Amino acid sequence: MNDLQELYREVILDHNRHPRNFGELEDANRVVEGVNPLCGDRMTLYVKIIDKKVQDIRFKGTGCAISVASSSLMTERAKGGSLDEVESLFEQVHEMLTSDITGSSINLENLDKLAVLSGVREYPTRVKCASLAWHALKSAIAGSEDKISTE
Ligand code: FES
Repeated sequence: MNDLQELYREVILDHNRHPRNFGELEDANRVVEGVNPLCGDRMTLYVKIIDKKVQDIRFKGTGCAISVASSSLMTERAKGGSLDEVESLFEQVHEMLTSDITGSSINLENLDKLAVLSGVREYPTRVKCASLAWHALKSAIAGSEDKISTE
């Protein structure tokens, strides 16, 4: 494992052990439930949107280290962002998780800490673990409270 992969692994383990923004958000105005049918793991995302901004965001649920870390990193980055910024972030992360971004307009530096999820693409069954929280976020900002599934 090279130094960068080791650093990415450490960030993922840290966010899994100490998830940021974990718990319920009582005054959320969007609540989305997500499920990964491959394993049955679930998460609930709570978002408080005011003036087209993510004022607050939290999540709870069970899942593997990748899923919890991705949810934690997602909430950390989305909090305080405008809906346009969050939508753009979703698109970039989705592309990073599902395509070879060499030569694409996706810049890992702009994604900052979220770049730690870039290695997940090598493990197809883990892509759904990492993308669950992001699909829930996209659904929340679109105003939907439907259950979402990574299938
Ligand atoms: Fe269930 Fe990753 S194995 S979310």
